[in-house]
Amino acid sequence: MRKTIIAGNWKMNKTFLEADDFFANLVENIEDKELFGVEIVVCPPSLYLELASDTAQESAIFMGAQNVSEHDSGAFTGEISAPMLSSMDLEFCIVGHSERRKYFGDTDELVNMKIQNLLKNNISPIVCLGESLAERENEQTKEVVLGQLEGAFHNIEMSEEIVIAYEPIWAIGTGKTASPQQAQEIHKLIRDWLSEKYSDEIAGKTHILYGGSMNPGNVENLLQQPDIDGGLIGGASLETGKFNDMIDVAIALRNN
Ligand code: PGA
Repeated sequence: MRKTIIAGNWKMNKTFLEADDFFANLVENIEDKELFGVEIVVCPPSLYLELASDTAQESAIFMGAQNVSEHDSGAFTGEISAPMLSSMDLEFCIVGHSERRKYFGDTDELVNMKIQNLLKNNISPIVCLGESLAERENEQTKEVVLGQLEGAFHNIEMSEEIVIAYEPIWAIGTGKTASPQQAQEIHKLIRDWLSEKYSDEIAGKTHILYGGSMNPGNVENLLQQPDIDGGLIGGASLETGKFNDMIDVAIALRNN
């Protein structure tokens, strides 16, 4: 049975002290809780990965990076490689986020190389994809998502370690969430693609997260959809109160 993954993507936010406070609060919130198959992941800026890794070792929280280089090592000033992330005991790394695609030129081909590097280093990639507003309005959503899947997973042997996040670009940071039905439709499309390309078993085991203005008010309805296995949460993951509330909703749904 798939877990429910509640993952926070801090993007470029929080100072060291704020990060430290956040982790202390989160650890306290979940310390005595039965999680019922809810997996909590936080992806802070890479600068705080040592703090994150220490926190993960003392708690049930998993940590992830927000990006990785497609190279293993060498003269790539400012970059961080998969072997480096692995040496920090990280479990996850986001790849192909729409902000990386938009501002830093990440293409499907680069995303593909990054996924391969992460898998070689035993880190679970959280592979993001999704359509823009113009693409949705032109009824190209399915074509865009299927194209991104083909590009990202070209020649990749699928494994349970890979997580996919459907993040419609028009819903990211805008306060506009895809309705549970809109999200479910695309999550099912992704799962059907996994069945066809790999197998029913792989499709059944792969976690597909929704991302795009998920918050304490809409998380319950989204998580109730059969193909939504959790959330990749930006803005609402920055506030401990909101993030804790969303974790509690996920736990309550699993415990029902
Ligand atoms: P948001 O961001 O929750 O602020 O919309 C989600 C994401 O970009 O991963």
